[in-house]
Amino acid sequence: MPATPPNPTAAISVTDAARAVLDCPEPMGKVRLAQACGRSVAAGMITEIGLPAAPSRPARPTRPELRAPKHMARRRAAGSRAGRIALYHALAHIELNAIDLAFDLIARFADPALPWAFYADWARIGAEEACHFELLCGRLKAFGADYGDLPAHDGLWQAAAETADDLLARLAVVPLVLEARGLDVTPGLITRLRGHGDGQGAAVLELILEEEIRHVAAGWRWFRWVAKRRGLEAKTAWARLVHTRYKGKIKPPFNQAARVAAGFDAQWSVLASAP
Ligand SMILES: [Fe+2]
Ligand SMILES: [Fe+2]
Repeated sequence: MPATPPNPTAAISVTDAARAVLDCPEPMGKVRLAQACGRSVAAGMITEIGLPAAPSRPARPTRPELRAPKHMARRRAAGSRAGRIALYHALAHIELNAIDLAFDLIARFADPALPWAFYADWARIGAEEACHFELLCGRLKAFGADYGDLPAHDGLWQAAAETADDLLARLAVVPLVLEARGLDVTPGLITRLRGHGDGQGAAVLELILEEEIRHVAAGWRWFRWVAKRRGLEAKTAWARLVHTRYKGKIKPPFNQAARVAAGFDAQWSVLASAP
């Protein structure tokens, strides 16, 4: 059954609207709900925070099959049709997770002490992630494929689940490690796609990169805000949380220009990647 976008005239809270996104299993339904929530918040039609209402896991379609990251096949060369499909499928899966991660921040950490701008930021970001997913599905379709055709890994949601107890830890890991990693790897993918004559795909990734810089910047804005409220120095708090709450490694090379535009400085990246 197609998902119904939230009725903007109904008095729903942003956590209700976020919960509707998280509970929708069908990807395009999730996209529509995310975009409707983003529009309603931007237009001032949703103004209430509401109560925390996050499910333990967001609803997902029956396909793709989700596998542990170690059971994923190695990606093929991006030059072949199969390689291109595998690349776009992996990126679309990341963006579908990103929709849920943005709305999970809203629904899980609903707190009247947080400024409304926190909710407005993540509703807008969630709607942008929905556009990214749609654009990548468009690239899959251009190659005769669809989201769900290949297995996908569950690593992103696992990293999020490990920080479900604490907003500061969630911000430290999800926007400031995982999304920031996207800033490092995307320019190489753009170059490869362009080299293979896939200008449309390169243009999609360029747009995504530009918006992701702003997502990471929002991560810093709110990380600093919460750290200050707890009386913590942001740089030290972030390094400590990355070491204690993130199991992976932060590896160079870093896209220093994009990271600096998003609020990092060179030392911060090094600080978190030190043993
Ligand atoms: Fe995205
Ligand atoms: Fe993002």
